[in-house]
Amino acid sequence: MTRIAVLGSTNMDLVAYVTTAPRSGETVTGQEFRTAPGGKGANQAVAAARAGADVAMIGAVGTDDFGDQLRTALEHAGVDIDLLRTTEGPSGTAHIVVDGDGGNAIVVIPGANGSLTSLSHADRALIAEAQSLLLQLELPMSAVLAGAETARRNGVRTILTPAPAQPLPCELLAVTDLLVPNEHEAATLTGVSGDPERAARALLADVPEVVITLGARGCLYASRAQPEPVAVLAPPVTAVDTTGAGDTFVGTLAVALGEGRPMTDALTWASAAAALSVQRPGAAASMPYRAEIDA
Ligand code: RIB
Repeated sequence: MTRIAVLGSTNMDLVAYVTTAPRSGETVTGQEFRTAPGGKGANQAVAAARAGADVAMIGAVGTDDFGDQLRTALEHAGVDIDLLRTTEGPSGTAHIVVDGDGGNAIVVIPGANGSLTSLSHADRALIAEAQSLLLQLELPMSAVLAGAETARRNGVRTILTPAPAQPLPCELLAVTDLLVPNEHEAATLTGVSGDPERAARALLADVPEVVITLGARGCLYASRAQPEPVAVLAPPVTAVDTTGAGDTFVGTLAVALGEGRPMTDALTWASAAAALSVQRPGAAASMPYRAEIDA
């Protein structure tokens, strides 16, 4: 079984469903409110576990009720949480508005995630034994960098989701094997907007392989060995909630690559998983199981 380590965030998602998201200064009435486990790290861990991998998560929750709920949700998904710390104070929260087209806008308050600034000996040992390490940017950069460097030293594939979008230190890019930004994140990193093919080629100056996710339009893959980007289409579906779709894609992609599948097959399988997830509400809750993805 593919063994995947995730170093990342856990958040409780506080989600308001509305027809049209409010602009600054505007108040709107929504249809529904839900709380649901999320966080880019935890979402990727759940996606990979449901897709059939053996997954362990390094992260932190708080001492509030959300912390207990986030722990339980990961445990129920079959994720190993031996290295999930509990730190004094609130858990991370994400304040999400989902509009009538399934699009979202998110504010993340890091809470306990912000306490994870360095890695323990046990964290490093767990990373060293994995096939892939999944990283995002909702933990302090010092921890993300320590994780990626540990992975590189031990020949573990690093897969980085550069979200929330921000410029990346050269040291992190130097130890990233596969970068998976969305269009907005790719534009932040390259200064190229509206031209994902050019952005993908530009990113190859920093990392050996890149996948730019394009939502309903699928994704683009480019590598130093094959710099002309290849497009993989997403199955056409009606989205009700796109929250966590990118995380579903990355978690599933990591499983397929860990199983040795060729990149285009892996991207097609990951796109199917993401297309399934957007048809259901919630982030981690919406993620499909392996049999559904295969079907
Ligand atoms: O990628 C989606 C996730 O971003 C949500 O679950 C939310 O917690 C934020 O971290």
